[in-house]
Amino acid sequence: MKAIRIFSTCLLLLPFVSCTQVANKGSDAATEKKVESLLSRMTLEEKIGQMNQITSYGNIEDMSSLIKKGEVGSILNEVDPVRINALQRVAMEESRLGIPLLIARDVIHGFKTIFPIPLGQAASFNPQIAKDGARVAAIEASSVGIRWTFAPMIDIARDPRWGRIAEGCGEDTYLTSVMGAAMVEGFQGDSLNSPTSIAACPKHFVGYGAAEGGRDYNSTFIPERRLRNVYLPPFEAATKAGAATFMTSFNDNDGIPSTGNAFILKDVLRGEWGFDGLVVTDWASASEMISHGFAADSKEVAMKSVNAGVDMEMVSYTFVKELPALIKEGKVKESTIDEAVRNILRVKYRLGLFDVPYVDEKQPSVMYDPSHLKVAKQAAVESAILLKNDKEVLPLQESLKTIAVVGPMANAPYEQLGTWIFDGEKAHTQTPLNAIKEIVGDKVQVIYEPGLAYSREKNPAGVAKAAAVAARADVILAFVGEEAILSGEAHCLADLNLQGDQSALITALAKTGKPVVTIVMAGRPLTIGQEVEESTAVLYSFHPGTMGGPALADLLWGKAVPSGKTPVTFPKMVGQIPVYYAHNNTGRPATRNEVLLDDIAVEAGQTSLGCTSFYMDAGFDPLFPFGYGLSYTTFKYSNVKLSSASLKKDDVLTVTFDLENTGKYKGTEVAQLYIQDKVGSVTRPVKELKRFTRVTLKPGEKKNVSFELPVSELAFWNIDMVKVVEPGDFGLWVATDSQSGEEVFFKVVD
Ligand code: BGC
Repeated sequence: MKAIRIFSTCLLLLPFVSCTQVANKGSDAATEKKVESLLSRMTLEEKIGQMNQITSYGNIEDMSSLIKKGEVGSILNEVDPVRINALQRVAMEESRLGIPLLIARDVIHGFKTIFPIPLGQAASFNPQIAKDGARVAAIEASSVGIRWTFAPMIDIARDPRWGRIAEGCGEDTYLTSVMGAAMVEGFQGDSLNSPTSIAACPKHFVGYGAAEGGRDYNSTFIPERRLRNVYLPPFEAATKAGAATFMTSFNDNDGIPSTGNAFILKDVLRGEWGFDGLVVTDWASASEMISHGFAADSKEVAMKSVNAGVDMEMVSYTFVKELPALIKEGKVKESTIDEAVRNILRVKYRLGLFDVPYVDEKQPSVMYDPSHLKVAKQAAVESAILLKNDKEVLPLQESLKTIAVVGPMANAPYEQLGTWIFDGEKAHTQTPLNAIKEIVGDKVQVIYEPGLAYSREKNPAGVAKAAAVAARADVILAFVGEEAILSGEAHCLADLNLQGDQSALITALAKTGKPVVTIVMAGRPLTIGQEVEESTAVLYSFHPGTMGGPALADLLWGKAVPSGKTPVTFPKMVGQIPVYYAHNNTGRPATRNEVLLDDIAVEAGQTSLGCTSFYMDAGFDPLFPFGYGLSYTTFKYSNVKLSSASLKKDDVLTVTFDLENTGKYKGTEVAQLYIQDKVGSVTRPVKELKRFTRVTLKPGEKKNVSFELPVSELAFWNIDMVKVVEPGDFGLWVATDSQSGEEVFFKVVD
């Protein structure tokens, strides 16, 4: 048996150990000297100009006149290298001080080569996938002159109604911390001043994912302890990974919009974490403080955001207009402006923009490089989650003669790219239909009958036709899900069932009696309980990007074996939301053998159902728990051992266990380590993910695997709002998902 040491893997410990570049800490004296020298030569107007980010006006002349006057620090949404160089030339040669512009773009899960949406990348539980994806995105985006992306999005999201759940890493604080830090590393490369590095911008700071009712932009109410225990850690991890910039969020938390929240921007980000990069607002989130009713007018907007710790406003245009008067009136101090400008210039120096402001317009194209497509395909492979596989229908057998490919997502090159693909091109997408045809060649007859043209279509005749045609096949592959527009910013839903007639399609296909393999491509977990029941197998692929087709074809035919795990809980029905694994216990936890609606006797007595915490129609458990995902093979966990049952606060707990491949295929298991702090000065979650690792095993192979967990990582913000490890009893599980595993115990002693 081979021992795998997880501890030595720097990446898994990103949030907690400074084993990575820490760009924001490494502010060298030379850079600071340059910043000070430049600052001392700037007029107040030029300083305020640096704090202004505009979106491309289209017309270069209009932008140039502002740039010449030193009124622009950054431009977003320019993607043409010739135009970018032209604008940069105005800044460098025609403005008084020659300060380069910071060119920004939302490069979220790829620039041209589109990777799976971040929620999909998170399903891989593989930080290397996230890092590689961000690296490729940086290489492609920087080749046109973009040096700043607004990513990673690391908002914890526990409500799939929220369309932006697609953009983040799901519900878990630890998983999001690890994946987000890996993305920061990928975007920024080994050194920020390499021309292929782009500054990362963790967003949205903070709490945005907790929008009430899952409706975008809505208010949040996250008390400080929960903010610190659940929502802030991924951002702290991103800071430790060296993130150069941060973005404020749209939401007001407990009445305070993030863009005007000095507690999070000054006390936490700068004070506690020592961040010295730049903070930008979200798109117009400064001026939107007027709609929030937090600022009366644009003057108050400028005052409140700058005084709260914002350095640059994105397209609100209040700073240039209002700050000069606010300074005169003493409502904003010039020293506050100086600090903001220092933060901005520091990032520009770190990116090397003063030395290399222009992009090489003549360099050979790096877009869709075969090496990029290869990692995008691997990302899509590792992101897919096998939710069901009855009768081992997957992988598909060589003996099949005819297969039917059905459903609106089978050949939808735009839709499988998902949300936030401003620069993605559907012409480069490889769809499942094409990949399937390629993989089977002329050995198998492929019948294609989509039934529905797009996911929202209602077309009973199309459904009937597809079912009739599919009945001729040995197996039916049904590609359903969501069009790209159904998730992402402002794209929230109150109903998470499959849209249009897609459910009817699955029902009709199931009625043929042929095995139905349902492949879902979506931007969020959907309530697909009925479809799971009706299907023989279900493979879930959060919008998989450019290479989704070949990745899914490989998985269906067993050239690759599914290994993804749910990065977010799948609810049975919308009314169960919020449903997430790391909840606190009630005083009356569910027993899981509750009496449900159909079994309740007429005139049953008030207390006859047992007084525990569950829904009479949905029960307690979700459709699929966090961390869930099957393989074509099976894994057995055994022999879980702890280095000690009693540990001190500065000890490191070593957990070892045997993992055996007990099935027929070589496969990869995401082994997960959860803990529970049994009694705290405040109630603690029933389980918390603390480690995970991917282990690849041949059939029959057994490995002894170890996790190392410093006891210090059991710390939480306690009753006194101090982060401490409280002595006491802990439970621990090493398991295949958040609902499995046998509990073992240890103690932390003083
Ligand atoms: C989004 C941000 C994005 C920004 C710039 C906003 O609407 O919330 O995530 O980075 O626009 O496009």
